[in-house]
Amino acid sequence: MLSRTVTCGQIREAHIGQTVRLNGWVNSYRDHGNLIFIDLRDRYGLTQLVFDKEDAHNAQAEIMAMADKLRSEDVIAIEGQVRTRIGGENPKLPTGKVEVVVKLLEVLNKTSNPPFQPDDNAALPNEELRLTHRYIDLRRPSMQNVLTARHRLYKATRSYFDENGFTEVETPILYKSTPEGAREFIVPCRNVPGTFYALPQSPQLFKQILMVAGVDRYMQICRCFRDEDPRADRQPEFTQIDLEMSFVRREHIIEMMEGFVRRLWQEMAGYAVPKIQQMSYRQAMEDYGIDRPDTRYDLRIKDISVFAATVDFNVFKGALEKGKDRPAFNSKRGVVKAMRVPGGAEKLTRKMTDGYAEFVKGFGAGGVAVVKVIKGEDGGAKLDTGIAKFLEPVKGAFLEATGAQIGDTVLFAADTYAVATKAIGELRQKVARDMGMVPKPGAEGGPWNFLWVVDFPMFEKNKETGKWVAMHHPFTSPRDDQMRAFLDADVEDEDTIEGIVSAGYDIVLNGQEIAGGSVRIHDGAVQSKVFKLLGLTPESAREKFSFLLEALSFGAPPHAGIAFGLDRLVMNFVGTDNIRDVIAFPKTQIGADLMTKAPSQVPEKSQSEVHIKSTWVPPAKGAVQPG
Ligand code: AMO
Repeated sequence: MLSRTVTCGQIREAHIGQTVRLNGWVNSYRDHGNLIFIDLRDRYGLTQLVFDKEDAHNAQAEIMAMADKLRSEDVIAIEGQVRTRIGGENPKLPTGKVEVVVKLLEVLNKTSNPPFQPDDNAALPNEELRLTHRYIDLRRPSMQNVLTARHRLYKATRSYFDENGFTEVETPILYKSTPEGAREFIVPCRNVPGTFYALPQSPQLFKQILMVAGVDRYMQICRCFRDEDPRADRQPEFTQIDLEMSFVRREHIIEMMEGFVRRLWQEMAGYAVPKIQQMSYRQAMEDYGIDRPDTRYDLRIKDISVFAATVDFNVFKGALEKGKDRPAFNSKRGVVKAMRVPGGAEKLTRKMTDGYAEFVKGFGAGGVAVVKVIKGEDGGAKLDTGIAKFLEPVKGAFLEATGAQIGDTVLFAADTYAVATKAIGELRQKVARDMGMVPKPGAEGGPWNFLWVVDFPMFEKNKETGKWVAMHHPFTSPRDDQMRAFLDADVEDEDTIEGIVSAGYDIVLNGQEIAGGSVRIHDGAVQSKVFKLLGLTPESAREKFSFLLEALSFGAPPHAGIAFGLDRLVMNFVGTDNIRDVIAFPKTQIGADLMTKAPSQVPEKSQSEVHIKSTWVPPAKGAVQPG
């Protein structure tokens, strides 16, 4: 083989006159009679090759005949001489001033007719085709850039944490089933019939045990598995940058991780991250209706319950009747929330606001009330459409309570705190998109709005089961000042339990959670109380977590940590909102790998070896399948 002496991205004017060898794929082919032009591509770039019939060497009919037969994506090796481009420079290419006149050609592999061309400038085929033939899709320079961006990110991560005294430790993938929120993938065990491993949702307990083991500062770039439905920024198999530190409090973690974020953005995007603001969970829920607010656009939510109580409108009155005796911000207490949409009176059509009413129903709300503020005949504010007639008598107070101005639309959600907040928070994001307020992610990123969200509640009620679940995970400590109240709290006292604040924290970037963590429980009694609240009997807690409870009893240091979603970081750096774009071999919406066709059935023999038998029955031929 004519092994390469240079890559396709390397040749410059300084090489003119030199003989070089290149290896790569035929990117494009143009036949101009006496001349054949080929752009040769490898990971490093493109170089123009010329097969010149007039050239003494290429007069060899054999090479020209071979060149004639070349097609896109064939794999070739050439030897040739570098010269100035005869047909004029291509300023778009770093190699655009030169071309290589081919003297020797070796066809290393002919390609079958590819299902698509890996061309960033052409319209991409559908994602299914791209994922089925991922090896072709990954040949696109933009996908190669993603892989190298990921690589640079691993490198910057390891250097930063290495410089700060962290040790990378690998933790098991065949793990024990533990509840961390999501459904688990389970793996049958051959040696102990009837038992299963689970794949880790995260190395949470191992990293805590490593603190008990005295590792002091741990990091790992690790794979995590969660059997959830994939979404635009969620995969069943994803990568975390997982971290844990001993003898630290929240502020130490915040400082260390801000340093990391700053380093990453500097190295990956040349951007100097300013001090990251902190916002309490409650503030986030109050102003944005979500615990990961996108603060790039100024669309605020306001609790207008006090004003709403003065309006003669049954929907408001009915909502405010709910849970009247509960404390403020309690999930079951009724509230009225309003969102002022500047310029909405013109931009948000009736059809759109009708759609919003349907949209919020998906979050359990009955609908959304609407009013427009338009210019009246006297030049002052006039309320129009929707619930205008109910608000007209208290117009002045309404304008004051909402801050609404002429040209605005105001949207209302009236329900329990939990429902109204969630509904209007989700609606806020939709309205922002409809109003064109959300900046497009660009390769240069920006604006980058980072935020620490802190002081999460410890627990929330699972809507389906009605049981308490840990808002972060069950190993998160109550905030120091909440410890006594937590230990004293009666399991039945719902309002008190709901009000306990944890020592958890998230980093939110442009409305996306890029990292989450907490100060951990290092005291067995506190951990047992959490298990009790989550409905675990002492026996089941012991059965599932005896190793943890035991470890905590043998000198566990105070410790805290966090994990970053690595794929989400890469998404930000390469400017995509599709997580599948930043993973070499991602899974589809139904968790399938279209290239290898995983998951797949396994023969009965393989099942019986691990003591399982699938209960799935293939549908009879011709049967109509549901869905
Ligand atoms: P958490 O569950 O918040 O915390 O996960 C940490 C970060 O991982 C990313 N992430 C995901 N990325 C892609 N696909 C998914 N399915 C997915 N799920 C989570 C998010 C998230 O912020 N053990 C704790 C961390 C700790 O307490 O230290 C944990 O896993 O960016």
